Amino acid sequence: MSNYSIKNLEEYFNVYRESIEKPEVFWGKIAEEHFTWRKRWNSVLSGDFESANVKWFDGAKLNITENCIDRHLADRGNKTAILFEPNDPNEKTQYITYTNLSKRVNKFANVLKAQGIKKGDRICIYLPMIPELAISVLACARIGAIHSVVFAGFSSTALSTRINDSNCKLVITSDGSYRGEKTIDLKVIVDEALNNCSCTTSVLVAKRINADIKMKAGRDHWLQPLLDEASDICEPEIMDAEDPLFILYTSGSTGMPKGMVHTTAGYMVYTAYTFKNIFQYREDDIYWCTADIGWITGHSYIVYGPLANGATTVMFEGIPSHPDHGRFWDIIEKNKVTQFYTAPTAIRALAKESLSFVQNRDLSSLKVLGSVGEPINEEAWNWYNNNVGNKKSPIVDTWWQTETGGIMISPIPYVTPTIPTFATLPLPGIQPALMDTNQTELIENQVEGALCIKQPWPSIARTIWGNHKRYKKTYFSAFKNMYFTGDGARRDAVGYYRLTGRVDDVIIVSGHNLGTAPIEDAINEHPAVAESAIVGFPNEIKGNALYGYITLKDKGERRYQEKLRKEINQIITENIGPMAKLAKIQFTNGLPKTRSGKIMRRILRKIASNETSNLGDITTLLNPEIVAEIIQSRL
Ligand code: WT7
Repeated sequence: MSNYSIKNLEEYFNVYRESIEKPEVFWGKIAEEHFTWRKRWNSVLSGDFESANVKWFDGAKLNITENCIDRHLADRGNKTAILFEPNDPNEKTQYITYTNLSKRVNKFANVLKAQGIKKGDRICIYLPMIPELAISVLACARIGAIHSVVFAGFSSTALSTRINDSNCKLVITSDGSYRGEKTIDLKVIVDEALNNCSCTTSVLVAKRINADIKMKAGRDHWLQPLLDEASDICEPEIMDAEDPLFILYTSGSTGMPKGMVHTTAGYMVYTAYTFKNIFQYREDDIYWCTADIGWITGHSYIVYGPLANGATTVMFEGIPSHPDHGRFWDIIEKNKVTQFYTAPTAIRALAKESLSFVQNRDLSSLKVLGSVGEPINEEAWNWYNNNVGNKKSPIVDTWWQTETGGIMISPIPYVTPTIPTFATLPLPGIQPALMDTNQTELIENQVEGALCIKQPWPSIARTIWGNHKRYKKTYFSAFKNMYFTGDGARRDAVGYYRLTGRVDDVIIVSGHNLGTAPIEDAINEHPAVAESAIVGFPNEIKGNALYGYITLKDKGERRYQEKLRKEINQIITENIGPMAKLAKIQFTNGLPKTRSGKIMRRILRKIASNETSNLGDITTLLNPEIVAEIIQSRL
């Protein structure tokens, strides 16, 4: 038997050693013993980082929904697969059993087929956190269509860019969404986006808020009547291990968002295995991840990982502050949640509120607490540990990325001793390396460097949709034969890893991964703007907030500062979404540049963070005089 679930530290070290020395034996055993295959693989692993052509379980045939649904029907048919908590606490909780999920997924899959969707077609899903979101994801996978979920907080422009990049034939959306006290007109956003998308020929619309919306004849269809008519039997499309399962967009430091392509078998094996170990899931547990399925966390640890393990996974439609700041704790108490997985930004926001919200609830069902998306600071870690976990639930600080598909560095609860702010140790199969600026690996402990991964793991994204060259360049060109993460990390005396933040031009704001370039491009569209540079600066709740330095074509325009600030944030909201708005906008007479004309963001970052005592050598700048001027009018 393989060690599917690690029980103690000694076992972890043994399993880890085996996984690194003989990855094919290790993953081969796990794949064989814990999943349903229609045909076995020819080789467990082939290809390498150098050629950017990694394949796992090549030659195998399977369908991921058979593994996430069908194989549980015999023993877990009446078990809740998805537990849905609506935005409004007075609306009934929904318990979707595995049997019911199976029928709903099959019906949805048949609706997609009736719309002419075939294996390999791309489908864009732009939905709030309602059951139809998880069901549509699984329905795509059932018939081999490639889903591209776009977080429903993105603007119409961001949505159309993503629809066009992967040529989505069909879009799945709803008439609107609830968000606390507010409603959002999602269909209007889709209509706007589709004005610029000729590839999309049909739109399926779920009814959620009963909004009076426009339906375009021939293109738009209400979902429910089609589901009602459809058969609840749909044979799964038998997929190759390396067939794409989904595309998920993530910001890059430059240019267009990157459509990361994840394939079927390796992604399934890795997300299922890590889910089991990191959350120590047992049969009757109620697992809740608060992420949105629009992000990788939701794909891997709300949908695929939990369902592959036959788990009960909670989907929450609302926000942590509605109807009050006790909502998370209410849901935990009500459903006796055993594992709770959230983001540091949510913890920091809730820690600001009265302690009575969390103290008045019975949270004794909790066994494991998780954190994801950005570094968790010590204060937030302690608050989480003391008030939510009551010092008895280990906190798993899980480091990973959209590109990695699954969790890479994390404690295993009740196995790995935790230390605040440390993601601790790599999971089996993951071999981290810290690199210095001369491309040399730092092999000692107590060092800090650029975090790379030395050996392929099953759920690494295989390419960027339509741009394999960019994939190779972004991840495999900085360090020879290694995957470069874009993050910095420190390794302490015992070998624990602590993530220190991005080393590129990506800024993490409230757990949202934002590239500076697309924001600057949006700002530069404003007719008054000559040039702009965006940097991050520390924010108590969001982790980072955005600081913009903007030069105007005509200095005189500065007398309309307030109006310009509003307009600039409006353009950003339209082009990207409200999460990318600037907290501070400083108008400057110029930006510090190197002789070759590159903006020196390092200096601007320090000024924004008010660390101006140590700016380093600025004499080599093209325009050193601008630095003092910018410092003087710092906001
Ligand atoms: C970036 C990836 C992982 C799913 C959600 C975000 C940062 C993520 C941690 C953590 C420190 C973290 C990194 C990473 N990050 N988790 N536990 N500690 N930093 O996925 O949007 O692709 O962002 O989030 O900087 O590179 P993503």
